Amino acid sequence: MRNIPTNSLPSAAKSSLPTKTGLPLDLTGPHVTPGASAAHRLYQALCEMIVSGLVKPGEPLPPSRTLATQAGFRRNAVVIAYERLIADGFAEATVGSGTFVAARIPARTAEPNRPKVIVETPGQGAFALGCTHIDERAVQRFRAFVGRRMRNFGSEHLHYGDPRGSRELRAAIADHLLSARGLRCDPDQIMLTSGTLHALRIVLSAILRAGNQVWCEDPGYPAARKTIANCGYRAVGVPVDEHGMRVAKGRIAGPAARAAYVTPSHQFPLGVQMSMQRRLELLDWARQAGAFVLEDDYDSEFRYDGAPLMSLAGIDRLQRVIYLGTFAKTLFPGLRIGYCALPERLIADVTAARAALDRFPGTLMEGAVADMLNSGAFAANLRRVRKLYREARDALAETLEAESHGALSVPVPSQGLHLVARFDRSVDLSVAARAKQAAGAEGWLLADTYSRARPLPGFVLGFSGHAVPQLVASAERLARESRAALRTGNRSDRQT
Ligand SMILES: Cc1ncc(COP(=O)(O)O)c(C=O)c1O
Repeated sequence: MRNIPTNSLPSAAKSSLPTKTGLPLDLTGPHVTPGASAAHRLYQALCEMIVSGLVKPGEPLPPSRTLATQAGFRRNAVVIAYERLIADGFAEATVGSGTFVAARIPARTAEPNRPKVIVETPGQGAFALGCTHIDERAVQRFRAFVGRRMRNFGSEHLHYGDPRGSRELRAAIADHLLSARGLRCDPDQIMLTSGTLHALRIVLSAILRAGNQVWCEDPGYPAARKTIANCGYRAVGVPVDEHGMRVAKGRIAGPAARAAYVTPSHQFPLGVQMSMQRRLELLDWARQAGAFVLEDDYDSEFRYDGAPLMSLAGIDRLQRVIYLGTFAKTLFPGLRIGYCALPERLIADVTAARAALDRFPGTLMEGAVADMLNSGAFAANLRRVRKLYREARDALAETLEAESHGALSVPVPSQGLHLVARFDRSVDLSVAARAKQAAGAEGWLLADTYSRARPLPGFVLGFSGHAVPQLVASAERLARESRAALRTGNRSDRQT
């Protein structure tokens, strides 16, 4: 480490700085990053003190040892902070004399009116969607795999890589798709992404032009609709019935569409399974229109009753269908690893689109995820959490049915991690909004998943990753508030 010249004496003659700690240091204000290293926080506090004029150009700073003692830091932290002040032009050092505030201070960038940015991240409150049960055994296995991979960290992590991601994980995913979904594909057809929306963005950029229409289920997954619109395409809402997306309506609403985004194995949010007839109709349309179908199979690993229908990609043998999968639910969302399986004819274009967007995925976690799949730890974790989720689903559905006294109908989904609880379609949408608010529930209003179709009053409620006793208590509260909202709703109906 470079030896910083420091003032030998913190005497009043040498420094006009306030005493006690020696400096008017504010180590807790908004200019300090909580949790940052001591050296960094000290640097930030010293900077603030200098640029706000509390110490003047040319004034000496206390010797590092003195400041360390007075401010309760290790001397090393002070030395590092002083080094950085000098490097950034806030201080100057003279051998034998010490460190001084620079004669000319770098101008402070204007920031007084910086707007307050509020970033909403999904919570984990009652019925929050997207929560997963973090099984301790799975975490331990994952930690061990990550540790081993880090110990063997080598050249394959140090260079630019394949835009599709590691072949090892792609091969493990190809095996998984074959055994879990009967979908046969080569690892070359798989691309790793940071999740479903990332895959959607990459694939659409390879197959569409700005302004092209994309069929989206209505109701549907709002995040996908938003991504499609943000990319400059036109999301066309296509209504859904008990057989899934109404393809005939799609042909009318979006005749020029070149892509359709669907959740056929477990429609989001309604939970219906797309019938075989509709699957074939959709594939016929894609072939006739020269379009592609993006099949989001987000929760197919969580099937509780009955056998699933074959995936669209399986029926189509990956000709006109792009299959989207994610580890956000089967492992945990924080991983940010998803994938798509591509028709052969799209590999080159989608790979080029990926390279143009963000080159290739980070490699550090991929090996550990491949280890989870190849070792059987992934499948074992699925077996354990599937059982927990089934119990959670049943507890939630039974409680809502019993406690709402008929106000809500709660079809029990045979798959997935959420359910829909609905009022009668004659009930005003505001009833659900009031009940949700009064119950302090964090799930969604069913109405918020619609774009153009007439919304149904009700809730979309996540049950995975929530402890059953809390789920039951929250369900009792929501059922009670639903009955109350319905009563006041009905009273105001009569008065008007
Ligand atoms: C319909 C649907 N698709 C995909 C996902 C997963 O998205 P990601 O992989 O980006 O986390 C979710 C998550 O809640 C979802 O509801």
